[in-house]
Amino acid sequence: MIMIDQTRLPREVAYVTCRTYTEVADAIRTMVIRGAPAIGVAAAMGVALGVLHSADPFDRICDTLARTRPTAVNLFWAIDRMKKLFESLRGKPIEEIQSRLVAEAIQIRLQDIAINEAIGRHGAELVPDGKTILTHCNAGALATAGYGTALGVIRAAVAAGKKVDVFADETRPFLQGSRLTVWELQQDSIPTTLITDNMAGHFLKSGRIGCVIVGADRIAANGDVANKIGTYSVAVLAKENGVPFFVAAPISTLDLTLATGEQIPIEERAAAEVTHVFGAAIAPDGTTVANPAFDVTPNRYISAIVTERGVARAPFLESLSRLSS
Ligand code: MRU
Repeated sequence: MIMIDQTRLPREVAYVTCRTYTEVADAIRTMVIRGAPAIGVAAAMGVALGVLHSADPFDRICDTLARTRPTAVNLFWAIDRMKKLFESLRGKPIEEIQSRLVAEAIQIRLQDIAINEAIGRHGAELVPDGKTILTHCNAGALATAGYGTALGVIRAAVAAGKKVDVFADETRPFLQGSRLTVWELQQDSIPTTLITDNMAGHFLKSGRIGCVIVGADRIAANGDVANKIGTYSVAVLAKENGVPFFVAAPISTLDLTLATGEQIPIEERAAAEVTHVFGAAIAPDGTTVANPAFDVTPNRYISAIVTERGVARAPFLESLSRLSS
């Protein structure tokens, strides 16, 4: 499996080849590949690589991949899909099992691109013409198999002829906004302005921002949304200033087994991501650090959730269950 190394962007466009499922697991854990749908696609390919090239038990392959990152439900969704197929093939010749699992992983990748394009079509209609769109983190082609969720909506709005520009939050501490979103939108010549996270309130108050669009890592049955740390603050500021706040995500990001966002597990990452920037210390040695990678935005701050099957609005318990069934 070949993937762009997202830890090296934008300084360098380098590719990593994973030949084993443990290499795929390491790539997910270290965020060489990141973003909920991309993690799901990588995990599916990891399962296929495991069955092709290792003698390890199937369950160990799946567990290793599942233990990489806890919040994005797409990871578990993709592994479950591979597990179900594997179980349905019990007793078949190994060559058939291998080729069917490889084909399934390829299918998951291709479907993800088509899903993002459909999200883009639904979302583009919500985007106000002639205004600035604020986004947080990277929910683009890099975070998916291609096109993107939040950035897919922006791409589709531009393709539909809307005159928009983008403000990208830099997204401390991992800098997905400045390193990845700005780089990605530059490739498409979509006008983009980088701001630091603490500037978002200032611009939301200014009247310049027409809407906020972000991705999601897990959406509970009531419409609470887990996404990159800082999303919650942006959502509160958007509501305070009367700016619509949209979430763009595939149906595979819904976790209807969880009643509310309170139950979503939040990944805690290494302190060094906060105390260091590209290896340089920006805090004294021994600094105590908190580094939750995600936060949960309560549904009352969310104007709409855009999926490949259409747009869900409050009450989300009903609209999301209708879309998912
Ligand atoms: O820690 P990351 O970079 O994997 O977090 C990514 C996000 O929070 C994205 O907004 C989310 O996964 C949606 S990507 C289409």
